Amino acid sequence: MAEDTTTLAGQPPPPVRDWPDVGLQGTEFDPVLAELMREGPLTRIRLPHGDEDWAWLATRYDDVKMITNDPRFSRKEASVRQFTRLAPHFAPRPGALAWADQPDHNRLRRAASTAYTVGAVKRLRPRAQEMLDELVDAMVQDGPPADLIERVLEPFPISVVCEVMGVPADERQKVHTWTREIISTAGGAEASERAKKGLFGWIAQAIRDRQDGDGDDVLSLLGGAVRSGELKEEEAVSVAGPLQIGGEALTNNSGQMFYLLLTRPDLMDRVRSDPASRPAAIDELLRYIPHRTAVGLPRVALEDVVIQGVRIRAGDPVYVSYLAANRDPDVFPDPDRIDVDRDAGAHMAFGNGPHYCTGAVLCRMQIELLIDTLLERCPDLRLAVPADEVPFRQRTMIRGPISLPIAW
Ligand code: HEM
Repeated sequence: MAEDTTTLAGQPPPPVRDWPDVGLQGTEFDPVLAELMREGPLTRIRLPHGDEDWAWLATRYDDVKMITNDPRFSRKEASVRQFTRLAPHFAPRPGALAWADQPDHNRLRRAASTAYTVGAVKRLRPRAQEMLDELVDAMVQDGPPADLIERVLEPFPISVVCEVMGVPADERQKVHTWTREIISTAGGAEASERAKKGLFGWIAQAIRDRQDGDGDDVLSLLGGAVRSGELKEEEAVSVAGPLQIGGEALTNNSGQMFYLLLTRPDLMDRVRSDPASRPAAIDELLRYIPHRTAVGLPRVALEDVVIQGVRIRAGDPVYVSYLAANRDPDVFPDPDRIDVDRDAGAHMAFGNGPHYCTGAVLCRMQIELLIDTLLERCPDLRLAVPADEVPFRQRTMIRGPISLPIAW
């Protein structure tokens, strides 16, 4: 990180702002991020963990778009330093997609990519609907009240992911339990580490066993890539792990989405009475939902880059905020308002550039099924407790309700 970072006009760099975890309620937008957005397009932040003192933060839509699509900003370089960060622990696995640059990133991502295309997700849709129907049938049969997270929003994405990965039916319970332990905060760090070991060991074995098969599930595709020498086994396991655990993001994001629908009668009425509005409503909600706490993974400038009159020096760490970009008033006027009639299709809820979320099309399909199915099967879907009694996860990377008590 360059000591003499200055703006082009010779002004001193912006002050370094602490970004504490302020304990956010519900779907509230982080007031610290709101303040940073007001302060300027590029600010400097210090997060709770990591050895290094500060990193740049870009919040404007155009800058976020540029930085995330510009090879002068490297993820690989960022994986070997202890940047200021939100996570207490930092140990990137070699071969992890999120920490790779081109051309390695393309090679790693290509192996499993056919399982996440629009065509593959379309073929999966009827099976996903069946799995969802089973869960909703059981919930409806048991009668209200029910916890929507426990009954549907957690098990559904895990089942879909198991289908895509190719986890055999008789192994699903075991894999499901590991995944739950990894994503749950209840058992503490030790239980989560144990579960990770179990899951990653199981994935490694499954990839080995499928090297000679010709299946189109992700574990077989990765096995084939190891056989052909395209990926090392360790890389294949690193690619598979986040794809298996990725359902967590959907549980929390759709938890926030249903919380918003259940607490805004006008929005619920619109989405219920006008099914044609649902695709636009989903985009608008994805834009609006504060998916995560603070920021994700940083990038490092490989050379000096000037953005908005500010010189970012080679070696400087840079974060972008997709949440802030999604509230940029130049792109989304009156951004703090949920407006189903705006064109929110250009949101960056799934990121941008080469690291764009692998699971985006799959997520979208699951959200569509969840909204269609739950609104149809539970015509009077409503919260079973007052809105301010819905407990939300605290001190967590991905935000969302812990439980969502519903009646219908
Ligand atoms: C990356 C959002 C669900 C797999 C990302 C990124 C975002 C994101 C913002 C980071 C982009 C960047 O690094 O610049 C979301 C949201 C989800 C979701 C909002 C739910 C609504 C999923 C699911 C999976 C998944 C279900 C797995 C099937 C991944 C992977 C990456 C990623 C593997 C890293 C891609 C790469 O670095 O090349 N996601 N995600 N995500 N996501 Fe998701």
